[in-house]
Amino acid sequence: MSKLDIITLPDPVLRQMCVPVERVDDALRRLVDGMLEAMYEAPGIGLAAPQVGVSRRVIVLDVSERDGEKNPIVMVNPEIVRFADERRTYEEGCLSIPDVKVEIERPAGLTVRFLNRNGQRQELDASGLFATAIQHEVDHLDGRLIIDFLSRLKRDIIVRRFKKQARIEAE
Ligand code: NI
Repeated sequence: MSKLDIITLPDPVLRQMCVPVERVDDALRRLVDGMLEAMYEAPGIGLAAPQVGVSRRVIVLDVSERDGEKNPIVMVNPEIVRFADERRTYEEGCLSIPDVKVEIERPAGLTVRFLNRNGQRQELDASGLFATAIQHEVDHLDGRLIIDFLSRLKRDIIVRRFKKQARIEAE
């Protein structure tokens, strides 16, 4: 697969509801490999398929230390089936909204079910940064972005800035 570009605000694909994957096959594995490559190159700790223009329920993550060993995780059709009561705040960024950080409070832990890159059912418990990253990426699959946690006023200012930038780049 040729190199995947990460799309940014205000691309409407980022706001679409993604459809479930029906079959985990070689074409899907090529997609996830391309997504992982794009994520590591960015660099980022997570990436969702809509961020490369594909409106399907696929996310990739790696929250390991940047200089340490890689630990790529692929989740197809991820479904969060349990949230912890405890909450935790992280300052989140998004590869599709460069240079914007938003403090977001989310459940500190969760259980997620998904298919792995071989189409096998998996379930795992996550906490800390990993739990936050999973929620951030699953939000993408529902067309939800970190700016949606801001007030409408702040969100509109950011969206306007990105629209203006996109116009300048198109000229
Ligand atoms: Ni993001």
